[in-house]
Amino acid sequence: MNPLIEKALARPYNLEHDELAALLSLDDPTELFDAAYRLKCRYVGKSVSLRGLVELGNNCAKNCFYCGIRRENRNVSRYHLSEEDVIRMAHWSFLQNYGSVVLQSGELESEENTEYIERILKGIRSFGGDRFGITLCLGEQTEEVYRRWHDAGAHRYLLRIESSVPELYARLHPADHSYARRVECLKILKKLGYQTGSGVMIGLPEQTIDHLARDIAFFHEMDLDMIGMGPYIPHRDTPLGKEIECTPEYAARQLDLGLKMIAVTRLYLHDVNIAATTALQALDGRGRERGILAGANVMMPNVTDTEYRKQYQLYANKPCLDENSAKCRNCLNRRIVSIGETINWGQRGDSPHYRQNRKNR
Ligand code: 5AD
Ligand code: SF4
Ligand code: FES
Repeated sequence: MNPLIEKALARPYNLEHDELAALLSLDDPTELFDAAYRLKCRYVGKSVSLRGLVELGNNCAKNCFYCGIRRENRNVSRYHLSEEDVIRMAHWSFLQNYGSVVLQSGELESEENTEYIERILKGIRSFGGDRFGITLCLGEQTEEVYRRWHDAGAHRYLLRIESSVPELYARLHPADHSYARRVECLKILKKLGYQTGSGVMIGLPEQTIDHLARDIAFFHEMDLDMIGMGPYIPHRDTPLGKEIECTPEYAARQLDLGLKMIAVTRLYLHDVNIAATTALQALDGRGRERGILAGANVMMPNVTDTEYRKQYQLYANKPCLDENSAKCRNCLNRRIVSIGETINWGQRGDSPHYRQNRKNR
């Protein structure tokens, strides 16, 4: 076996920067993926946790250069789900025994939005009790807002740093988007007791292997519980994506790097939850299964009503646009079974890292 893989398997956080970079640069990643998959099985078994993904709305106050629903993209018609609709979609996920939901939307900071989310959280708690997981993915907020949402029943929060390298972050965002504030938000979320997740986009223009190795080190420095990351996929209505053509070769490279990041992250951090994100499937029909086989352990079936899905396209080629939630459930189930894994039905699927830390406290 590659001695670096052996070293990584021995215990968490056991690789130097150059060693992380060397693993990310392997020409043949077969052994890397196999080892990461075995390590995933050591922590959570041959099982995948599900989260029903509700895309609450595509209004966003931000203007990230890579994202299809950025504020200045006039080609998107904007929508906003009613509380009743969101609660219905979450309830459907509950009845399907998914075990948890993720509520995601563009970034909005207003008292109105804060209360809307509070009411949704209380609605979900009223049928889901404590055994149904709720993850929020609603961007940067004040400590006060994070606290109110935690009090209302949210217990996990995902806020991607997008790139942990400040110079690269600055090239991907307008000047008023602050890297420092994002890091501060992650610290607040942790302090408030959320299971905290972050992640990056992989294969961004001007991003190097060195940057990606730093991203993995950042996950450790921030002591994260969950990682949600995926390949960057150009969107033609964005400043960053308009010139990039997604040829089959480009897609294959993005996928390969995305899978390597999952595997090396698993080998370095060991006990975190890692999502096999939909972006992987935008590049390859079996992308998400391949993510699991490279060390991920979470999948997020879309439970948003079909009519809204086309409006929530952060990147090109998003899958499941014409399918409904029942179809996605059957499809994902089949995919998971096809790789010899089972679904953690009815389980919150908390991060083993978080559970471990709790025990130590
Ligand atoms: N390609 C891949 N991922 C993207 N995201 C936004 N735009 C793109 C893109 N073009 C990701 C960001 C964001 C998450 C919700 O979607 O990482 O945090
Ligand atoms: Fe808004 Fe998130 Fe898209 Fe940035 S990545 S424009 S914050 S939805
Ligand atoms: Fe939606 Fe396959 S998961 S169609």
